[in-house]
Amino acid sequence: MIQLFHVSKWYQKDVPALQDTNLHVPKGDFVFITGPSGAGKSTLLKLIFADERPTSGQVLVHGRNIARLPAAKIPVLRREIGVVFQDFKLLPNRNVFENVALALEVLGIPRRDIGRRVWLMLKRLGIHHKMRANPLTLSGGEQQRVAIARALVNEPLILIADEPTGSLDAEASRRIMEIFTDVNARGTTVVVATHNLEMVHSLGKRMIQLEGGRILRGGTTP
Ligand SMILES: Nc1ncnc2c1ncn2[C@@H]1O[C@H](COP(=O)(O)OP(=O)(O)OP(=O)(O)O)[C@@H](O)[C@H]1O
Ligand SMILES: [Mg+2]
Repeated sequence: MIQLFHVSKWYQKDVPALQDTNLHVPKGDFVFITGPSGAGKSTLLKLIFADERPTSGQVLVHGRNIARLPAAKIPVLRREIGVVFQDFKLLPNRNVFENVALALEVLGIPRRDIGRRVWLMLKRLGIHHKMRANPLTLSGGEQQRVAIARALVNEPLILIADEPTGSLDAEASRRIMEIFTDVNARGTTVVVATHNLEMVHSLGKRMIQLEGGRILRGGTTP
């Protein structure tokens, strides 16, 4: 499903953000990527949904080489991937409902189905009462739940989440992880970057440890 072969990413000339990284995430897996700030977690995730291109090496997603993917093919790739960004990236000129609905509109889903699916997903995340609110008026934790709803509403084959519980308290984090586990049980491959080691250990999932752009542990399936 996701494979990295000798991937390096240099944003600048002095130090690489990722260095000779090898990784295999089989279909249906649930993995955590951990490591200190600046370790390269977000960079690794960005390579998977073609937000960044590797400087060298290969990134394969569903057998497609992301490094060589023409820009015109990126939307096709992104249709299969739900992304929760570290900084949410909600649209400030649309309300909560519209932010989530947009993920379905771009797929050409009929309007009547969109309304139902968006409402159900917002309800599942406990944020349906803020449906008409502007994202800018929400707390960090509420924005995070909207971002998660948007990533999951089209039932993606792959879920990529960058610190999806960073703004949430312990109880809300636990609920989000239950939702991710449920989505994973229905077949979605889940890749989550997080600082929260307690959460990782409590879930007992595979952990990939990054430090200084290198994978210290967990790059290949045990
Ligand atoms: N667009 C960019 N331009 C230049 N350098 C960048 C860029 N994005 C990331 N970097 C650098 O690459 C390295 C890895 O960054 P990355 O964001 O992947 O780390 P991270 O593990 O996600 O950190 P955090 O836990 O703080 O989110 C850092 O040294 C960072 O400064
Ligand atoms: Mg990051």
